Amino acid sequence: MSEQLTVIVLAAGGGTRMKSKTPKVLHRIGGRSMIGHVLTAVGTLDPARVVAVVGHQRELVGPHVTEVRADAVLAVQEEQLGTGHAVRVALEALDSPPREGTVLVAAGDTPLLAGDTLRAFAESHRAAGAAVSILSGIVADPHGYGRIVRDAAGGVEAIVEEKDATDEQRAITEINSGILAFDAAFLAEVVGRIGNDNLKGEYYLTDAVGIARGDGRSVAAHAIEDALQTEGANDRAQLAALGKELNRRIVTRWMREGVTVMDPATTWIDADVVLAPDVTILPGTQLLGATVVAEDAVVGPDTTLEDCEIGAGARVVRTHGQLAVIGAGASVGPFAYLRPGTLLGKDGKIGTFVETKNAKIADGAKVPHLSYVGDAEIGEGTNIGAGTIFANYDGVNKHRTVVGKHAKTGSNNTFVAPITIGDGASTGGGTVVRRDVPAGALAVSGGPQRNLPGWVARNREGTAQAEAAAAVPGEQAENGRGLGDGPTDRAES
Ligand code: UD1
Ligand code: CA
Repeated sequence: MSEQLTVIVLAAGGGTRMKSKTPKVLHRIGGRSMIGHVLTAVGTLDPARVVAVVGHQRELVGPHVTEVRADAVLAVQEEQLGTGHAVRVALEALDSPPREGTVLVAAGDTPLLAGDTLRAFAESHRAAGAAVSILSGIVADPHGYGRIVRDAAGGVEAIVEEKDATDEQRAITEINSGILAFDAAFLAEVVGRIGNDNLKGEYYLTDAVGIARGDGRSVAAHAIEDALQTEGANDRAQLAALGKELNRRIVTRWMREGVTVMDPATTWIDADVVLAPDVTILPGTQLLGATVVAEDAVVGPDTTLEDCEIGAGARVVRTHGQLAVIGAGASVGPFAYLRPGTLLGKDGKIGTFVETKNAKIADGAKVPHLSYVGDAEIGEGTNIGAGTIFANYDGVNKHRTVVGKHAKTGSNNTFVAPITIGDGASTGGGTVVRRDVPAGALAVSGGPQRNLPGWVARNREGTAQAEAAAAVPGEQAENGRGLGDGPTDRAES
C-alpha cells in the first residue's frame, strides 16, 4: 500500500451470548481465534499500524493479539461506551494519530473476512475520495444491523441503528457490515463530534456518516457479495455454522489446488495447513495446526494430525498424531498414536496399536505391532518385534533406549532403559533387556523351556483339551511318565 494505512480492530465487547469464560473473539474455528483470522486478513494489506481496542477480559485478549501480531498497539477501553468511543480510544492510544491516509475499522469477530475483500474495499474508498466508506451488504434478515439509508439520488445519507430506526427504515435490507474506511483527517476530527443522544445511549461510530453528509463531504457504500465474510459469531451455534463454512472454503480451495478429498463433509482442514498436489485425504480426517503433507501422501480414513509433517508418498491410516514427522514413503497405522517428538524415517513403519513418543525411528526401521516406544532411538533397517515395550520410566525419571541399525529384536520384549542394543544385535522372544546388548550378540533372558509330558492327561482329565491331546498317537507313549507329576511342576506350569 503506497498510502498510509491504519487499521483499528474493535474487540472490547463482552460477547455474553457465548456464555463462556473465554472472551468471544478468542473462540476458535479453523485453527485460529476469530480475532486471529481478522488480524491475518488485515496483515495481508501490510498496514503501517494496527490498533486493537480491548476492554472486556483484556488480560486474555491483549496478550493473544500481541501473540498473533507483535507490533499491534493495544488500546484499552475501560467502559464499552460504543463503537465511536472505541475508535476515539484507539486514536488516543497512538503516539501520533494518523492525519493522512486511510483508517480502516473492523470488528474482531468476523472470522471469514478475507484480505482481498479488505484490500478491494480500501482501494475503492481511496478511488472515490470519500470521507467515509461503508462496506455494506444485502441480507435477507437485516435485524440487528445498522441500515443504510439512501437519498432519492441513491447517495448514502446515514446509517440508522436497529433501535433508532423507523418501521420504514427497518425494512431496508442494505446493512452496515461494521467495516468502515475513513479519510484519516476526517476521522480525527469527527470522533470528537459524535454524541450519545440515541436510544442506546452509546457513541455510534456510524453517526460519522450523517455528520459527513451534513458537512457536505462524500460518503460511499460498497456492497459485498459474499455477506458471510462480514458475519460475526455471537453464540456457539453461529460459531459452529461459520466454522463449517470456513472449512468448506478451505477444503474447496485445496481441491482446486490438486488435492483429492474423498468426503469434503467429514474432512476438516485448519487455515494454516499446507498440502501438496496429489495428496489424498480419506473420510473422517482432521488436519490441524501447522500440519504439512507432501505430494502423493494418503491420509485417513479417521485420522487426526496436529502440527505434523507427512513426507511424500507416506500412508497414514486411522492415526492420531501430534508434533510428529513422518518420512517419505513411510507407513503409519492403522490405529497408531504418534505423540510429540516422533520422527519416522523414509520408508519406515509404525504399525498397528503402536504408541510412540520422543522416538527417532530411522530410515527403513519398523515397529510393526502392539508396542510402546518412548524416549528411544532406533537405527536404520532395524525391526522391533511385536508387543515390545520401551520401559522408559522408572517411576521418577525418564531414560533413553538406543537400538542400533539392522537389529532384529524378538516379540514381547521389554527394554528397560537406559540401555543400548548394538548394531546388528538380536534378542529372543520374551526377553527383558536390562543390560546393554553388544553389536551382533543375541540376548535372551529367563530360564530354558521345560516340557512336562502328559501333564494335561493327568490334570485335565475328561476335557476337550485332554481328548485332543490323547488323539495324537506318537505323543501318547509319554503320557503318565517322566516329568510333571510332582506338585512343584504343577505350580510352575
Ligand atoms: C455495529 C454497528 C452496526 C453494524 C453492526 C455489524 C455501530 C453503532 N453499529 O452494531 O451498524 O450493522 O455493528 O455487526 O457501530 N465494541 C467495542 N467497544 C464498544 C462497543 C463495541 O470495542 O464500546 C466492539 C464490539 O466488541 C464488536 C464491535 O465493536 O466487536 C461492534 O459492536 P457491537 O456492539 O456488536 O455493535 P452492533 O450493535 O452489532
Ligand atoms: Ca455485533
